[in-house]
Amino acid sequence: MMKISRLLIAAALTAAGAATSAHAASSDDAAVQARVDEARAVTSDFLKQLGGTMKAEMQAGGPTAAMKVCRDVAPGIANDVSLRKGWKVTRVGTRVRNPMLGMPDVWEQRVLQDFEKRAAQGEKYDTMTYSEVVEEPAGKSLRFMKAIGVAPQCVACHGSAGQITEPVRAQLKELYPYDQAVDYKPGDLRGAVSIKQPLTD
Ligand code: HEC
Repeated sequence: MMKISRLLIAAALTAAGAATSAHAASSDDAAVQARVDEARAVTSDFLKQLGGTMKAEMQAGGPTAAMKVCRDVAPGIANDVSLRKGWKVTRVGTRVRNPMLGMPDVWEQRVLQDFEKRAAQGEKYDTMTYSEVVEEPAGKSLRFMKAIGVAPQCVACHGSAGQITEPVRAQLKELYPYDQAVDYKPGDLRGAVSIKQPLTD
């Protein structure tokens, strides 16, 4: 029984492989483009939801209450999307508060640097994205990043010492002893949403 089902899977894989390689390069491009569009839509929803929740919490309870939006809500949504889609969805920073979740890898660092150059040339963060198909020992994947700019409401927790109130500072110090994600100004690049989708062919 075991043997038969293995054989069937092998046959199905061969058929799928043949079908893929028979496709013209242009249909592969179209498939990648469809994935990029989907990543863009998911990211835009994510950031809209986050921005709205942050604003509401800041108005309702101030920055000590709003802390949970960046701390729980954002990683929570990223996790949900990751599970639902089979992608790896994270938020990374140019300077990082939570090194466990927010640290960019080498590829992400390169894209963040490029985003800063593009911003210096006048491009807006709202529409700034980058995507690339990468090949690693673990396989091929589509990587996508969308820039996150610093809005005025962010400086209550990511701004200068004078902009962060004493209770927030105390809370941050306790939770994030290695916090680097301060001294941002509105208009700076804060980081990006980063998505990695495994590609199988
Ligand atoms: C109420 C405080 C607070 C406000 C306001 C706030 N953040 Fe954060 N931010 C945090 C905390 C706390 C973390 C660490 C989250 C974690 O533990 O993963 C964080 C982490 C992040 C990260 C992930 C990278 C890292 O440094 O760990 C990004 C990106 C980010 N914030 C962007 C923003 C943006 C953009 C705004 C404004 C729209 C904003 N934050 C407003 C508290 C805040």
